[in-house]
Amino acid sequence: MMMEATGKLKKLSYPDAYLVGHVDFMGIELIIDPRAYVPNPETESLCTSAIKYLDGSLLPEGQKRRIVDVGTGCGNIAIILSKNFPDSEIIAVDIVKSTLQLAMENAVKHGCGNINFWPADNLVTSISGGFSPHLVVANLPYGSGGYILGSTSIAELSHMPQIAIFTEGLLDAYEELIKQIIEKNWETVLMFETGLVPKNIVEKIIPTGFKWEYHPYPGYSVTEVWFKSKK
Ligand SMILES: C[S@@+](CC[C@H](N)C(=O)[O-])C[C@H]1O[C@@H](n2cnc3c(N)ncnc32)[C@H](O)[C@@H]1O
Repeated sequence: MMMEATGKLKKLSYPDAYLVGHVDFMGIELIIDPRAYVPNPETESLCTSAIKYLDGSLLPEGQKRRIVDVGTGCGNIAIILSKNFPDSEIIAVDIVKSTLQLAMENAVKHGCGNINFWPADNLVTSISGGFSPHLVVANLPYGSGGYILGSTSIAELSHMPQIAIFTEGLLDAYEELIKQIIEKNWETVLMFETGLVPKNIVEKIIPTGFKWEYHPYPGYSVTEVWFKSKK
């Protein structure tokens, strides 16, 4: 009984990660504070999928992998990709300048010199069309209260930047991102966190004729869209 009461109280408390000032993500320690969303352990599956994709993609001799991380938050995804692919060129964007500042602090802490952090006007609009990434990875706000990941409590979310969590319509940030990638003519793959949103709802934002896959995990999902033919 006592244990149950303690557990309930903890659910209502300030995020532990903000209290201690750091969070573990895929075995690395990141600085975290209220400037950024606390990364979910579920998001590690998005990184694992991205690493697998980049590992398997063959590039012409001497060409570097180019990656864009949209909505980088504390920089968790960009930093993991940088550590796995130190020769790649990474652009990480976020719409909140103070969030981006925290991501830069994390990149310095981990010696990731291959990430360029850019303020986003909106998603990838500030990135030159010429950059043409091999992979765009995104964990953007996608949900309403109904799709909060199992590792986060609603009470904890109230302490995090609200722009990191909620959007007007379900998946509308991803829908806009897909539109922007098409406008830029990027021949790329977009990999994004769809969490608990079911496949039949994700399907509604995929333009007709585009190849895509929905990868379900326990309590989580990742969606991939190809803006080129899938080899
Ligand atoms: C759910 S958090 C994810 C943070 C981090 N990538 C992670 O995996 O934990 C979403 C991030 O997207 C950023 N964001 C929201 N709207 C954006 C937009 N229109 N353009 C760029 N970034 C945006 C937020 O500031 C926030 O840092």
